[in-house]
Amino acid sequence: MARKIVAGNWKMNTSLEEGLILVSEINGMLGDLIVKADEVILGAPFTHLYPIQKRINHAKLSVAGQNCHQAEKGAYTGEISASMLASIGCKYVILGHSERRQYFGETDQLIASKIGAAFAQGLQVIYCCGETLSERENGSFFKVIEEQLKTALTGLNAAAMKNIIIAYEPVWAIGTGKTASPEQAQEIHAFIRQQLTEQFGADTAQASSILYGGSCNAQNAKELFAQADIDGGLIGGASLKSRDFVDIIQSY
Ligand code: PGA
Repeated sequence: MARKIVAGNWKMNTSLEEGLILVSEINGMLGDLIVKADEVILGAPFTHLYPIQKRINHAKLSVAGQNCHQAEKGAYTGEISASMLASIGCKYVILGHSERRQYFGETDQLIASKIGAAFAQGLQVIYCCGETLSERENGSFFKVIEEQLKTALTGLNAAAMKNIIIAYEPVWAIGTGKTASPEQAQEIHAFIRQQLTEQFGADTAQASSILYGGSCNAQNAKELFAQADIDGGLIGGASLKSRDFVDIIQSY
């Protein structure tokens, strides 16, 4: 069985003070509930990770970096390494987000090397894939996603896949308020699981968590999470509001 996971992606939002308030609220609300997700991950800005890590005290909560550099260390001004994330108790890193691909030119090959760097430090990876609007419209999206999975996960074996969470995020649905329909999302999630079956075997594919991301919110999460191959969500905008985020976590 795949783990049920809800991850927040705060992107470049919140001051430290705002971030700590948000985390305290989420932490407090989860403490009063029987939490339905198996894991809840907070993808906060680098500057916030350590204080947030210190603040959370719920067994299901942990933090994620939103990126890391592919090198172990060295003269890369402005960059953050996987070992730096690991050194503050961070368990996860988000890699391959479409905004990194679009604005920072990240390719599947680069992302593959970042995954290697993250694994070398014992981090688990939330690997994002998904097609653009034009790829959706011209019908090439299955091919695009297949390629993203093949190239970025190349060289990994079934054991390593235990440390990968896949996030399917159609670029046309991110921050646009335009969610993929549950059927559209399920179709791709089933396709991704099929790809994982071919690459790593059925056991690994069944145990892999595949999250949906792209305008997922407290209103639509229930229907999305009810789909057979959707194991949770990677949440942008709605992860910045504690009530909405907790409602999403309880949507299973
Ligand atoms: P959104 O972002 O929920 O604001 O669409 C999702 C993401 O980019 O991870």
